Amino acid sequence: MNILILGSGGREHALAWAVKQNPKCDRLIVAPGNAGIAQIADCASLDIEDGGAVAVFAEENAIDFVIVGPEAPLAAGVADRLSDAGVAVFGPSAAAAQLEASKHFTKEICEAAGAPTAAYAHFTDPDAARAYVKEHGAPIVVKADGLAAGKGVVVAMDVATAMSAIDDMFAGAFGGAGAEVVIEEFMEGEEASFFLLCDGETVLPIGTAQDHKRVGEGDTGPNTGGMGAYSPAPVLDDEVAQKALDEIIKPTVAEMARRGMPYRGVLYAGLMIKDGQPRLVEYNVRFGDPECQVLMMRLGAQVLDLMQAAAEGRLADARVNWADDHALTVVMAANGYPGSYEKGTAIGGLDALEESSFAMCFHAGTQSSDEGIVASGGRVLNVTARGATLKEARDQAYAMVEQIDWPGGFYRTDIGWRALR
Ligand code: AMP
Ligand code: GLY
Repeated sequence: MNILILGSGGREHALAWAVKQNPKCDRLIVAPGNAGIAQIADCASLDIEDGGAVAVFAEENAIDFVIVGPEAPLAAGVADRLSDAGVAVFGPSAAAAQLEASKHFTKEICEAAGAPTAAYAHFTDPDAARAYVKEHGAPIVVKADGLAAGKGVVVAMDVATAMSAIDDMFAGAFGGAGAEVVIEEFMEGEEASFFLLCDGETVLPIGTAQDHKRVGEGDTGPNTGGMGAYSPAPVLDDEVAQKALDEIIKPTVAEMARRGMPYRGVLYAGLMIKDGQPRLVEYNVRFGDPECQVLMMRLGAQVLDLMQAAAEGRLADARVNWADDHALTVVMAANGYPGSYEKGTAIGGLDALEESSFAMCFHAGTQSSDEGIVASGGRVLNVTARGATLKEARDQAYAMVEQIDWPGGFYRTDIGWRALR
């Protein structure tokens, strides 16, 4: 079959790498892709948020299955346009993608489903929002309602920070995403991510992971898109996962179906876990990046069969073949990230890497140039390894990191510390 993957990050390189190993995959096209993806697939330039253009491209290229990587095309209705055109697609409808695209929507679903999450209130007026913060005090969490590229959340440890977050959001710091604001209770605990495939009705867990959002060692400094991840996450053990399934995920999926917007695709539940009790922080309607890289390393080629089963409503009969292993990924980012950073710095040593199903250097922001591969984004490489233990996976990943010669980049040296401590 001919497969089209939409996206250009490390997540999409890992998806392409796993899908490509499946014997069912004949031709693989990734739009727009990156320099690493170009080594294993055809890359095409395409406006991936334009559903009409994606549907025409799929028809012209005899595509049998489209896998949507990021959230923006989903929120823009690309899966709907493909379904209308009769092209099989992995990813939710725009209506179902509201689980990520609107925090207020998600809160309402949780309320209707009885899913444990932070207490909240929703505001379209800054004075009412300020009064609420005054009444409840800090710590408190202020969120822009819409998609804000992961930057629309302020965890305020004092009232003044919360007040200025409210002012910023209503003043348009996040564009349309800040015209509505959700304010919620601060939850304590340890965060972990739970990934599930859904076919509208059935839910199939495909792994747990923990991200490292802060830029600095020991989880310090500003937030990033994620500086590393590992899977599985010990804090999300079988017992906690079962609770999350029974109390949060299954009731959510049932509520979505009841509202006539069945959820199909991957559901990424961000959970806060305290004393063995999970509560929902947020949903995302796509794989995490870099969490996807560790999941793909553990799942391999079967992920294509599972994604097809999700798209076709066959998950009730699907099984995941688990290896009792661990995977870890180290993100290499351009110096200066998440602030301003230089583009175009040369990356050496990539050709000599010994890549295998146990160790891969997935590309995120890279480009080919006359001088070889250069950095073209903030997060640039995701060095990923798998092992019998987490320590083995970590040692293997860092051994590969050391073979990469990139003076223009940096990485955290403590990925996995919570699980290894
Ligand atoms: P979100 O974009 O909703 O994932 O929020 C970004 C980050 O803010 C989360 O990963 C958490 O670390 C933190 N966060 C969000 N909501 C809360 C909350 N209610 N309590 C504590 N931390 C939160
Ligand atoms: N790594 C966090 C995310 O993908 O949202």
